Amino acid sequence: MSSTDGQQAYADYDRTTIDRTGQVEAFDAIGDRYDEVFPHKEGQTAAGAWLAEQLPAGSRVLDVGCGTGVPTARQLVAAGHRVVGIDFSPTMVKISRENVPDAEFHQMDLADLESGGLGPFDGATAFFSLLMLPRAEIPVALRMLHGQLKPGGPLALGMVEADVDDFGIPFLGNTIRVSGYLRDELRQVVRDAGFEIAGEESFAYAPASTDVSPEIQIFLNCRRRP
Ligand SMILES: C[S@@+](CC[C@H](N)C(=O)[O-])C[C@H]1O[C@@H](n2cnc3c(N)ncnc32)[C@H](O)[C@@H]1O
Repeated sequence: MSSTDGQQAYADYDRTTIDRTGQVEAFDAIGDRYDEVFPHKEGQTAAGAWLAEQLPAGSRVLDVGCGTGVPTARQLVAAGHRVVGIDFSPTMVKISRENVPDAEFHQMDLADLESGGLGPFDGATAFFSLLMLPRAEIPVALRMLHGQLKPGGPLALGMVEADVDDFGIPFLGNTIRVSGYLRDELRQVVRDAGFEIAGEESFAYAPASTDVSPEIQIFLNCRRRP
């Protein structure tokens, strides 16, 4: 068992409902165009810096849905941490390994983290990866992350403020399904999963592409309640 408290959130989740159809393919096709369209990630790097500062150098940090490894895995490695990135897209994992050779990356669905044997972790980030899940799964994924973290461990979470569930949107020539909450509900979902919220920032973000709509990004600096 990889968690410190034995919590296995996905054990009670009906995995037959998990449908990633089109999601992996979309991110494989998007590859490093993602970084061209989402430059200037001040909010994300500030949240990554908060996380890095919470932990002594050499801590093991999980980056869930690591994308290209930039900026987050690279930033955490530069801060002296041991980074384990996971992403379900083989292309993203390949790009991450090239971008951040000193981190460890695994092609893995986040729903397989509990059985993956990688944890426990001192800290974790999940920037814009949980929003790719249907709403019914987001609390499960957060409880899973609670179980993967050591007590008191920090979690830096990035979401987009939107009242949608598994909603298809055009994204860089592909269609992806996204979910989100308005911020009060997001805070509640995070607290209900066993985290306290130590800080919050939100940013209006205009991607460098007419194919992606402007969005409100929310960053929550969280800590696993024991
Ligand atoms: C919007 S991108 C964000 C990338 C990176 N975290 C960042 O903020 O720069 C979302 C990433 O999460 C990955 N992802 C989405 N759902 C996932 C899942 N169920 N398991 C693992 N990775 C997932 C995608 O492949 C993609 O690389």
